[in-house]
Amino acid sequence: MTRHFLRDDDLSPAEQREVLELAATMKRDRFAARPLEGPKSVAVIFDKSSTRTRVSFHVGISELGGSPLIIATASSQLGGKETAADTARVLERQVAAIVWRTYAQAGLEEMAKGTTVPVVNALSDDFHPCQLLADLLTMQEHKGELAGLTVAFVGDGRSNMGQSYLLACATAGMHVRVGAPAAHAPVPEVVAAAQAIAAETGGSATVVHDASAAVSDADIVVTDTWVSMGKEDEKAERVATFGEFTVDQALMAEAKHDAVFMHCLPADRGFEVTADVIDGPQSIIWDEAENRLHAQKALLTWLLERADA
Ligand code: CP
Repeated sequence: MTRHFLRDDDLSPAEQREVLELAATMKRDRFAARPLEGPKSVAVIFDKSSTRTRVSFHVGISELGGSPLIIATASSQLGGKETAADTARVLERQVAAIVWRTYAQAGLEEMAKGTTVPVVNALSDDFHPCQLLADLLTMQEHKGELAGLTVAFVGDGRSNMGQSYLLACATAGMHVRVGAPAAHAPVPEVVAAAQAIAAETGGSATVVHDASAAVSDADIVVTDTWVSMGKEDEKAERVATFGEFTVDQALMAEAKHDAVFMHCLPADRGFEVTADVIDGPQSIIWDEAENRLHAQKALLTWLLERADA
């Protein structure tokens, strides 16, 4: 049966471990696996701008022996002119998988329902699951076994990153805390889903409205922009609301002494994080950015194996 990756909990805990193990193996021997030899094509569609996602999928699909077909939505019939379901029916006759960065999660679900090839969420308004696979791989490299670690996501809890942190880290058996203003908390359905997963994996998922409470004794401290794509009109209001959630040296000092700092980038230095933290010795952001490549190659390989079965 075709598997899709639309949100972090589309992988079970065991499946998430498999993908992360495959990613580590593929990183060690970068050019060994070529499941897209042919070349088979993968469509990578962008409704929103991107640097890391565009580059890592383009490079990754090429390294897997395939041909990346990068499509800007504005130059296609998708987005008002043709439905996601009809687009999917056209693409599935020609490509091995569809990767889509879009706004509404519902669009991804429509795309997945309409096709026989795997659909991958390359960021929606609700989730950024490919980023989380890269983040978990990076944490594993720096901290070892994921289960039992405490991770604090500080900032916009309702953002795709805040919500993906809850689901992906609960799946990994971690203790995940989101520290966010009450008006920007994750949606209750996502919190409940993360707590249900954590009850099975031995982790935990909590939401607090105080940055210090979130990072206290954490192994990993994470933040992201306060102004996600599509929220640009709210920038002034958001900067005022999130003022107490900046990750600075004082906040990092409340985490464990050997805590690491992560950010999916792009960053607004001086807003969600100070330059001395993101550019300082605790920051592992460049490993995190590189790991988009290895994690997504593993994910595509894993999904294609199941699509061919
Ligand atoms: N982190 C991330 O998704 O980066 P891009 O927006 O540049 O793809």
